Amino acid sequence: MPRVEIKEFQRRADEVASFLKSNLSPDTRVKIVTHTDADGISAASILARYLHDRDVPFHVVFSRPLRHDEVVELSKEDYDFFVFIDQGSAQVSEIHKHVLGEGRNVLILDHHPGEFPEHSKLGHLNPHACNLNGASDISAAGVVYSVVERLDKKFRPMVWLAVVGALGDRQEFSSGFVGINEGFVKRAMDLNVLRVGKGLKLIGRTQSPVVECLRLSIRPYLPGITGNVEACRELVKSLGIPPEGKIAELGVEREAGLRDALFARSNATLISEEFRHILWGPLYVLREEIEVFPAELHEYAAMLEACGELGSPNVGFAATMGDEASATDALALLKRYQGRMVEVLKWLEGNLDAFETTPKFRCIYVGREIDPKMVGEAISLAVESGLVKADRPVVGIAESNGELKVSARATRVHVARGVNLGESLRRAAASVGGVGGGHDVAAAARIPLTKRNEFIAALDETLPRVKEGRK
Ligand code: C5P
Repeated sequence: MPRVEIKEFQRRADEVASFLKSNLSPDTRVKIVTHTDADGISAASILARYLHDRDVPFHVVFSRPLRHDEVVELSKEDYDFFVFIDQGSAQVSEIHKHVLGEGRNVLILDHHPGEFPEHSKLGHLNPHACNLNGASDISAAGVVYSVVERLDKKFRPMVWLAVVGALGDRQEFSSGFVGINEGFVKRAMDLNVLRVGKGLKLIGRTQSPVVECLRLSIRPYLPGITGNVEACRELVKSLGIPPEGKIAELGVEREAGLRDALFARSNATLISEEFRHILWGPLYVLREEIEVFPAELHEYAAMLEACGELGSPNVGFAATMGDEASATDALALLKRYQGRMVEVLKWLEGNLDAFETTPKFRCIYVGREIDPKMVGEAISLAVESGLVKADRPVVGIAESNGELKVSARATRVHVARGVNLGESLRRAAASVGGVGGGHDVAAAARIPLTKRNEFIAALDETLPRVKEGRK
């Protein structure tokens, strides 16, 4: 029996599906505003396929959560139906005032915390409204899928895109998925869309020669291996692995041998349970008949994420819609992104003493050394790889267009001890004249350039202490 919260979510998904269906016709002009990341891209793709099937014209734009002035500008555009994906719940008062206020229909399909007021022209589906957690139970792609699969059964096999969204948003635990996500994986297996295997989760395992795959490994970052082609060649040679072979083709024994060699070479003090799980664990592989590449979904999610990070979410989106040339371009963007992130992580590895420690969090000011858009992901990767100690939340601050961009990451252990980064960043940013928000484990803010120290003090005040002892 599903939990009562899941039942409630399903009931609301039914309502939202009816809302969507009754407000669409081939004359309806739809504007979709979605997030630039893997989850936002796969979520938009699910809705786009449905609209395309129904001959409803639509226009998709990719953006981080819209600011107040951007909602005002959007409301002036000539569309009948505005859909906010992977954002909107935290911007609902602006949307209410400027878009619903103009008499347009609005659909919000989000999984970030926010507010859930009712309105006759608003359809709104969000796990937080049903006491589910949008950081672990379901992604935005899962929310969109939950609506579309109710409208037409033929869209059910698209469930793999809901798994991609969840992977992109790091909703996979070492023990697997939880909540509604768990049901998506089960359904994908039942529909014979996906098989779940086990192996090295390195990005490129199905696409790149093993040496290239190791050289570009950022999840995890492998000190001494990542970015060092000679070390990669030597390691592979010592194991008798052909350097041009792909990891996915090595066979069980050789793959396990490579895993053991990587564990053995990693600094023993850095090897946490999490590091082991990042390197080795479940693989979600699409059945050949689906004809989507990369067929391994961690890789697929990484590809979409890279497109977003490099400012080309449209390329990832076109790839998800089945455009082959875009799929080739998206894979090239993945390699370019990995190459850039290798440099960023090397920089972090060489500047670990720049981290300051407050009683509540670790913080690094990177100035203009790291692209502000890459800071959040770089912190996630540094923590997962054991470069930065995860005894308290980690915050990165970069200079971005005359203001400061703050990215913060916490572990689920911190959350269990009372941390909610989205809420803390929102409050700390607001206290210095900025804006912030996000999930309990991942959040961001923009604050005035001159307010760094004030913000750090405010955040230290706002966050609970998760570490025992004085420091
Ligand atoms: O930019 P970064 O990757 O650090 O963002 C972390 C998370 O915070 C993302 O999921 C983003 O959507 C969310 N966020 C938000 N509201 C904001 C800023 C960020 O929900 N005002």
